[in-house]
Amino acid sequence: MRCLKCGEKAVINMRQHKLALCKSHFLDWVPEQVERTIKRYRMFTRHDHLLLAVSGGKDSLSLWDILLRLGYSVDGLYIGLGIDGGVKYSANSHEFALVFAKEHNLLLHVKDIKAEYGETVPELTIRTHRGRYKPCSVCGLTKRHVMNQLARSQGYNALLTGHNLDDEAAILFGNTLSWVGSYLIRQGPVLEADRPGLARKVKPLCRIYEREMAAYALLRGIPYIQVECPHAEGSTSIYHKEILNKLEADRPGAKLSFYLSFLHARRDGLFSPSADERAGMVHICSNCGQPTSAPELCAFCRMFVAAEEHLDSNQLDGL
Ligand code: AMP
Ligand code: FES
Ligand code: ZN
Ligand code: ZN
Repeated sequence: MRCLKCGEKAVINMRQHKLALCKSHFLDWVPEQVERTIKRYRMFTRHDHLLLAVSGGKDSLSLWDILLRLGYSVDGLYIGLGIDGGVKYSANSHEFALVFAKEHNLLLHVKDIKAEYGETVPELTIRTHRGRYKPCSVCGLTKRHVMNQLARSQGYNALLTGHNLDDEAAILFGNTLSWVGSYLIRQGPVLEADRPGLARKVKPLCRIYEREMAAYALLRGIPYIQVECPHAEGSTSIYHKEILNKLEADRPGAKLSFYLSFLHARRDGLFSPSADERAGMVHICSNCGQPTSAPELCAFCRMFVAAEEHLDSNQLDGL
């Protein structure tokens, strides 16, 4: 297989784009695609104050690298969730994020959940009896809360995440299986800050396949955490990714067209907000100031009330 641009030996064949490229042309092609996505969806400009949520994985670290190459200045945020799973998952991912930030002289904010809130995500999960003791839903809730809070409190114009096309297609697949209109209408490359207390969220890798991101990280020599979160095994999102991969293997481009057709349908008004949203029933959490559909505390703050209640009853039990 030869590079379509220069005829040298190709390192990657992207069947969905009918495009094979050598190392040097592939490493130029990825940032070009990201730049086109940033412009197409009017994500941000070089004057914006940008915050990237960095997990220590290939997507977010590669995105940081790409944005630097494109001349954007971006600060990072790493959230220490306290997940060990026998592989020191959080500690190791933190290390990868730190190494990248140090090497490129970048600002990395670090929020450690145990230090800030007294418990790790797995501890909180057990204490609050959530998610059948699988920490994923508490983890998602915590990450969203902390990212939004820091982006808002430090005045960033946009909060960036490393979600790639495979992530987005899998989330979309899950949402269409249950037809949650209110989730569907809010899924996309840009989530505007359309409620008080909400940061603007953008996903510059939403059109890039996971396989392309893995190749990019490898070919750029970016060290990243290779193991998956120990709690991801058996998760629905991985199952959905596997189904979509089967589809893609038979029909190259299926994932991209699933996602892009959805964006067209959404733009054409196929989905509508929930009745509550239409009625403007968005409240502000009395504890943290973030928007919520509940009348008093948001789901994150409620979790701590629940945790305190459990603590009280456990202490009483001990008496
Ligand atoms: P995931 O939800 O693990 O698929 O990650 C999706 C995106 O969320 C990543 O590309 C990061 O931008 C962000 N992210 C995930 N975990 C963390 C973390 N511990 N700290 C900061 N950002 C994270
Ligand atoms: Fe959050 Fe696995 S439980 S990353
Ligand atoms: Zn080439
Ligand atoms: Zn709150």
